[in-house]
Amino acid sequence: MAEEAVLGFLEKNEEITDSGQFAAERGIDHQDIANIIKSLHGFKLVDAQDIKRESWVLTEEGKTYAAAGSPEVQVFLAVPPEGISLDELQRKMDPTVFKIGRSQAIKNQWVEMGKQLTRKVQDVDDKVKDLLIRIQDGEVVDPKEIDALKRRKLISPQPWKGYSVRKGPKYAPRRKKFATDLTRENILRGDWKDLEFKEYNFSAKGQPVGGGSLHPLLKITRFAFHMKTAKIIAKAIVVIYILVIAGHCATANQDDFPADGVPFHLHIFALVSPQEEGECKVLDFWSWALVFAYRFEEMPTNNFVESSFWNFDALFQPQQHPARDSHDTFFLQVPSTTKMLPEDYVERVKHVHEFGGYGSRGYGYEWKREEANKNLLRTHTTAVSSRMLYSLAQKDFVPKKYFSIDRVFRNEAVDRTHLAEFHQIEGLVCDRNLSLGHLIGVLNDFFSRLGMSKLKFKPAYNPYTEPSMEIFSYHEGLEKWVEIGNSGMFRPEMLRPMGLPADVRVIAWGLSLERPTMILYGVDNIRDLFGPKVDLSLIKKNPLCRIGI
Ligand code: PHE
Repeated sequence: MAEEAVLGFLEKNEEITDSGQFAAERGIDHQDIANIIKSLHGFKLVDAQDIKRESWVLTEEGKTYAAAGSPEVQVFLAVPPEGISLDELQRKMDPTVFKIGRSQAIKNQWVEMGKQLTRKVQDVDDKVKDLLIRIQDGEVVDPKEIDALKRRKLISPQPWKGYSVRKGPKYAPRRKKFATDLTRENILRGDWKDLEFKEYNFSAKGQPVGGGSLHPLLKITRFAFHMKTAKIIAKAIVVIYILVIAGHCATANQDDFPADGVPFHLHIFALVSPQEEGECKVLDFWSWALVFAYRFEEMPTNNFVESSFWNFDALFQPQQHPARDSHDTFFLQVPSTTKMLPEDYVERVKHVHEFGGYGSRGYGYEWKREEANKNLLRTHTTAVSSRMLYSLAQKDFVPKKYFSIDRVFRNEAVDRTHLAEFHQIEGLVCDRNLSLGHLIGVLNDFFSRLGMSKLKFKPAYNPYTEPSMEIFSYHEGLEKWVEIGNSGMFRPEMLRPMGLPADVRVIAWGLSLERPTMILYGVDNIRDLFGPKVDLSLIKKNPLCRIGI
């Protein structure tokens, strides 16, 4: 309708001088007219020039008076012919309307204040209301009137943009509809022969290209281990390291334990740490890629389904332990039990649970094979650690460092900080004569590389570690200590039945991947980060990488 109006008018007239007036006269919304003019101008059917001027809009207060009448008229109408006391009038009216209306009505000499407020005139016109309505309708109003309304803050200025319009070079009284698609129907009907197609607009902006985005959890995973790329670089650096630096550091021999008792694997921390060895500074940036991505081997965590045996029993977790309850663990219905366990090892595990050994009294209960056979969704990646240590124990002992980052499952009520499935970062170092000091050293080193250098350790309990420590990190942003993980030294009751030599110690830790990610990305509800309710824009918009922490 707006388009017909514009083109039709120009057929008989030279010019639309003011699109605002043109729209008002025809009762068409000016925005509709303006949009049509812009489009017609684009196709050169018309030639439009901008007109800018100040227009006025009603303020919230102005709008209420346009609807209910000005306060002075409201007051006037509330004064009965016989007069009314101020108190009584005030009780009848809205306090602001009363206040403004009374003084304005007195100023206009509509009412006067004697003992009572009485009318001085019979009738009044609500000029203010009429003006406000005219302004609301977009009519042009006498500047003097505008001034008064402006002073009373009933209207405020708003820049207005409209057009003057003349015929353009491609003017036609009707815009031809160009076809944008050739359809099956066009071909069947044969009308494709007469169709005129819309020209391609090669300068139009294309659809925004949606690039792929990494989920914050993936970024932190990569950040934590620089895995894929760092492996290659780390290998190269190891070669340089061996050639250049190992020459200076006589202790760096895997079979030859240094005099200070620190095994070779942990010595690398010292070698590459700038505080210790000036000449190794250059390696510092890569050192932890080297240490964590190269020297640490990734454990195969691609089995979400695990038997209770590897998840619990092998870890010296008694069969009555509350974590083994179906309230905490998801048990599988099909297949409900595992088919294969190493029988002689199972016997040793049963024995250590029932009677102990290696200096332990055991739990003194009757260990049941059926419990161990039950399949479940693994509740921690420590299940994988137990498999790895068992297979390590089957050969001549070599020290190892393992890590993994993968999914675990717990039958928990979901809330802001808990999900039924999440990810764990697991790590362990297995070597002769390791101590709690090594564990603390490794954790300090590991976390300071993630930007968390203030750590606190709190004694804790796990059935499979002794001593056990919860790890807390001071969060500068939250200004409090946040629990970030759990750690400990695996118990002999777990390691010895596997067949590991008596002097082999294993220091290990497990952390949630979500916890540091939430802290680093400022996410306060875990459901925004992972699971079906994740907001995709969070993933698209978060920074590509983090510089510093
Ligand atoms: N498995 C523990 C957990 O799920 C973490 C842990 C791993 C603790 C290794 C000690 C040693 O919380």
